[in-house]
Amino acid sequence: MSQDLNRRKFLTYVGTGVTALTVASAGLGAFAPKTQAEGTKAASHLFGRKKKVSGVKFTPIEASGKDELVLPRGYKYDVIASYGDVINKSGDTFGYNNDFTVFFPINNSNQHGLLWVNHEYISDLWVTGAPVNGKYSASQIQKLLYNQGGSIIEIRQDEDGVWKMDTSSKYARRISGLTPFRLTGPARGSKAVGGVDIVQGTFANCSGGKTLWNTVLSAEENYESTSEAASLNETHYGWILEVDPFDPNFAPRKHTALGRFHHENAAMGLTNDGRIVVYMGDDKQDACVYKFISKNKYVESRKQANSDLLEEGTLYAANLGKGTWVALTIEAVRAAAKGNADILAKFQTQADVLVHAHDAAILLGATPTDRPEDVEISPFDKSVFIAHTNNAKHGNIHGHITRFLETNDDLGSLTFDFEIFACGGRQSGFSAPDNLTFDSEGNLWTVTDMSSGSMNKGVFETFKNNGVFVIPTSGAAMGEAYQFASAPIDAELTGPCFTDDETTLFLAVQHPGEETEDINNPTSMWPHRKGDNQPRPSVVAITGFKY
Ligand code: FEO
Ligand code: CA
Ligand code: CA
Ligand code: CA
Repeated sequence: MSQDLNRRKFLTYVGTGVTALTVASAGLGAFAPKTQAEGTKAASHLFGRKKKVSGVKFTPIEASGKDELVLPRGYKYDVIASYGDVINKSGDTFGYNNDFTVFFPINNSNQHGLLWVNHEYISDLWVTGAPVNGKYSASQIQKLLYNQGGSIIEIRQDEDGVWKMDTSSKYARRISGLTPFRLTGPARGSKAVGGVDIVQGTFANCSGGKTLWNTVLSAEENYESTSEAASLNETHYGWILEVDPFDPNFAPRKHTALGRFHHENAAMGLTNDGRIVVYMGDDKQDACVYKFISKNKYVESRKQANSDLLEEGTLYAANLGKGTWVALTIEAVRAAAKGNADILAKFQTQADVLVHAHDAAILLGATPTDRPEDVEISPFDKSVFIAHTNNAKHGNIHGHITRFLETNDDLGSLTFDFEIFACGGRQSGFSAPDNLTFDSEGNLWTVTDMSSGSMNKGVFETFKNNGVFVIPTSGAAMGEAYQFASAPIDAELTGPCFTDDETTLFLAVQHPGEETEDINNPTSMWPHRKGDNQPRPSVVAITGFKY
């Protein structure tokens, strides 16, 4: 067999399942191309660093249409928390459609800590009930707001290796559409947000990030329907917010300096001179990739006080044609809008630029891209990976993963080059890359988000249910995708997060059974709880990782 034959083609030709392959011991090299693509060679050249040899240590699974969270042989999952579960002594409950997760160890433990979980949106069928004549009642609005936002839960792995929630936790609490938030930064109190400093709640919390000072950043994405239904000022949503899961006295805050758009995530790093960088995707068709660079430098001993670094700095958007980061400043916007009275009227202050960041970015020549979702900074070479999930408007049906190479490997650079690291499609076995995370061997863990309405039909049929794919970023198998998990029916797997020792992977299973029309006949019953009559979005802990 030619060594240039890639693994997927190999499997197609031999017509057998992947289960015949034990990737770990056999070594992927035998099935993977030996020569690297031009673009990836360029990356190795740019960084010139020795990388660990990547490889995956599991037997990849095949695409599955089962109503189950399918894992490779030797792995298991524990359901930690499901929609509606009580999380603390005051009776707060776990919200709907769990997404981003972050593990915060307690006493550096890999078996005990807090888990932050985003709740992105609700279901009329299972949370609020359908609106009457297109309008929710007051009690429905209460449910709509309460079941979005975030949950802080305390979790522990017992002697039998089973992960469980501790509902007697002193930390467990909800952050929701009802929690007051402080605005920080240039738009705080500005006319652009109705002159206020404090806003009500958070919702549409998609992905996020962890700060260097151990707080969580959560991204408000598709906020419009909730703000409209609840008659809330929409300029108070579409921000990056920060919460300290350990400290209720750290006021929940929204950082306006990071701009307002359909925020997917917030990936934090440091410039070579010690300032904070936050990379962000704007999950909308024809939207831009952003980064914020703080004015001041990070000082580790300041701990949570470093939060003020997110109040002052510059927001940039990427121009991929020129390889430049474009600063979104009021001066630049007004210069570009010269002679256009409407645009000049809209953009009068820096607050206006931040509140309407997408319009400002496009005006200044930033590149509209194919729905940038999660962004992750490689801990090995500081290249930046962006999941461009898809964009049917341009025929990019299955999406791709873009890799930015910042000049001089400096996250503070204002110029960059880029390559397409991996492409969705039959040849790779995945479609619609979304959340990303790295393991310590440089493998990029990628979850997929084909919409529940398009899965298992037409050109999506071959992929079956959504999944988790593991893609080495170096070595002979670089760019190849190996399937690690398959989601229950209609679900999307979101929020992958490892414990520091990588013995546990947390994963949020979102919207199982979303295509259900008749509540008595759900399309999924996952997680198949005894005595339950509905599917429930749930966070799981996956164990069985080998060394
Ligand atoms: Fe909420 Fe962009 O996925
Ligand atoms: Ca997402
Ligand atoms: Ca991520
Ligand atoms: Ca998505």
